[in-house]
Amino acid sequence: MTWNIESNRFDIKKLQLEESLFSLGNGYLGIRGNLEELDKEVMESFSVSSVRGTYINAFYDDVEIPYAEKGFAYPQTSQKMLNLTDTQTIKIFLGDELFTPFKGKIIDYHRTLYLKRGYAERVIHYRSPLGKEVKLTFKRIVSFKYQELFFQEVTITPINYFGPVKIVSTVNGEIENYVDKSDPRVAQGHAKRLHIKNHHIVEDYGIIESVTEQSNLSVLALSQTKVNGAFLDSIRWENKQIVSTYHLDLIHPITINKRSIYLDSIRYEDNLLEKALSRFKEIKDLPFDDLVKYQESYLTDYFNNSDIRITGNSDLQLGIRFNLYHLIQSVGRDKYSNIAAKGLSGEGYEGHYFWDTEIFIFPVFLLTKPSLAKNLLMYRYNTLDYARLRAKEMGHKKGALYPWRTIKGSECSSFFPASSAQYHINADISYSIVTYYLATGDLDFIALYGAEIIFETARLFIDLGHYNENGFNIFSVTGPDEYTAIVDNNFYTNVMAKYNLKWAVKLYNLFKVEHPEILNQLIAKINLTDDEVLEFQKAAENMYLPYDERLKINPQDDSFLRKPLWDFDNTPKENYPLLLNYHLLTIYRHQVCKQADTVLAHLLLEDEVSIETIRNSYYYYEKVTTHDSSLSSCIYSIMAMKINEIEKGYNYFIETARLDLDNTHKNTKDGLHMANMGGTYLTIVYGFAGLRIKESGLFISPKIPKQIGSYQFKIKYRGRNIRITVNQNEYQIELLEGEALLINIYDRQILLTDIICDKF
Ligand code: BGC
Repeated sequence: MTWNIESNRFDIKKLQLEESLFSLGNGYLGIRGNLEELDKEVMESFSVSSVRGTYINAFYDDVEIPYAEKGFAYPQTSQKMLNLTDTQTIKIFLGDELFTPFKGKIIDYHRTLYLKRGYAERVIHYRSPLGKEVKLTFKRIVSFKYQELFFQEVTITPINYFGPVKIVSTVNGEIENYVDKSDPRVAQGHAKRLHIKNHHIVEDYGIIESVTEQSNLSVLALSQTKVNGAFLDSIRWENKQIVSTYHLDLIHPITINKRSIYLDSIRYEDNLLEKALSRFKEIKDLPFDDLVKYQESYLTDYFNNSDIRITGNSDLQLGIRFNLYHLIQSVGRDKYSNIAAKGLSGEGYEGHYFWDTEIFIFPVFLLTKPSLAKNLLMYRYNTLDYARLRAKEMGHKKGALYPWRTIKGSECSSFFPASSAQYHINADISYSIVTYYLATGDLDFIALYGAEIIFETARLFIDLGHYNENGFNIFSVTGPDEYTAIVDNNFYTNVMAKYNLKWAVKLYNLFKVEHPEILNQLIAKINLTDDEVLEFQKAAENMYLPYDERLKINPQDDSFLRKPLWDFDNTPKENYPLLLNYHLLTIYRHQVCKQADTVLAHLLLEDEVSIETIRNSYYYYEKVTTHDSSLSSCIYSIMAMKINEIEKGYNYFIETARLDLDNTHKNTKDGLHMANMGGTYLTIVYGFAGLRIKESGLFISPKIPKQIGSYQFKIKYRGRNIRITVNQNEYQIELLEGEALLINIYDRQILLTDIICDKF
């Protein structure tokens, strides 16, 4: 089956991993795949550790950053996505025996995540220590239709046991975030940030309203548990939980329905209780199966546009769909939210948004669901004032500097060499805005929002750089590769900044003709002058792009090639990722890359250099790249395909497609790797099919590894819907919707009117 994720054995060692893999979300609400029966008390009594998590995208607290030695303009506070009131717990007692997977026997176990149907299920054939046998089915949905809703349905079916059953369902307000002091990629402190403000019991609803410690945000959880054929025995407030208890006899199957909704003050502002009660009315009678129907139709539409079909390897096919599924579960749908590095599936990187969005995830939505791509850009527009402020704090006279990691818009990183120094974030955002424009033709968006960002980021680059005999230089920055920090003339940063500056000029000239009024308003708003635009042009034309004549490659920066090579031969396997085993200064002093840097620049701006430089650089950097970052293999796959290293391209693709499913980075328990998930899509679309979106149009250059029978996907481009199918003998490009379009296939211009089909 290539639409279901399955686990057919309960394995305590995989508990936390599966909590991430089976997590559910809808862009607003995210629930980890925790087990209903394992509340804190049960986990403690069996000494089990789990990351029990419920999150709302962008719901954060401000937390003080503790510094031993704080420097000027180091951020004072960070933001942290908070773990919220836990409504997941449903405990089942067969007589006096509490069901847990640790006592008694699990005779049969099937856990499934239905990618097409949008819900998760566990079916357990269980025998208690005293021999009571039942079948337990746990189903759960986080609704795409009602963003606040988390719905669980549990069925207890008798096998040999017919007798008393007790059901205890809780709403727990005493919640903490997960902390791991040994891993810098996970939060190291500030566990308890959410405090109960008040609680209510209204009929059979348990309601807890909580408030953050510092950011002054509120969240309300309202939950109702119903058991068919039984009346509620009691509902009471006990140990910071609301506990609902039911007693009944197991004769026929028992069904428990637990509906929980979450409203936060970011979206719902005030009177959360009133709003929750009225919202709950709309969903309180909805059957589980009706919700499944909606999930199905939502996902049918999503996969209809985004699915990539491959033949020849069902494991990889499943990996592709799993990754696409989690992207749609995690991406923000409103102006407050974006997509966190781990989506809504875990607490790694504390719910922060990074450049991962623009370079690895945004293109997926741009080509499949452009409204979501636009929303991601709107989030950046909405946080532009924070970026202006950050630029000032960092001593820049003008412009905006986007934060390396953030939720609300201000910089959250305390470690500037691998964060604030990554000025390329500015150019990455501008690059996405331009790509959005090229793929949609939506000039209004650019005029109203995009251009302002591009002008402000261009200004920042002017302030950042300086001229010397080489031309325009940018010093003391960090490129994407975090194993090399604070260098001069990072090729990636320079070439991306050049593009940013070039487009600032282009848009300025375009708007003079197309939207003079809007341009005048913008000029007045941000005091942009003609002289500045000339500066942009001059810097772009004179941007220094390092090139090494001897190796015929683009050096990653001015010093990279002069450093000694990392001693890979004497680095044991267990010392990877290097960042957990060597002081960063040791790493910085060597030629060793965590992830694609120059190679990524060659993907994004391939026309800036020759194919020979791209090829030579690929071989050079491949030897010194550890891929310790999950953002690397996908880029290496794409660029291997570009230089006709098809076998390599395929092997890197395998690594990306199943990175989380196979837990190859060994930290999926902290959350799924969203950038890599986007990267899987890109390996096929950019890598295999060679798709590029350029000012001169759409480019497609299909190739296919011999291990794959065929692949097929659709894209949206300038109001068209185009399907690309490639097999071992031929490729087909079909125009499914929209007017004829001039496209470039292997650099030949062809008018796509209906279908283009050619043999390899
Ligand atoms: C990578 C960054 C990335 C971050 C969040 C780090 O390991 O080096 O490039 O933005 O993870 O995914």
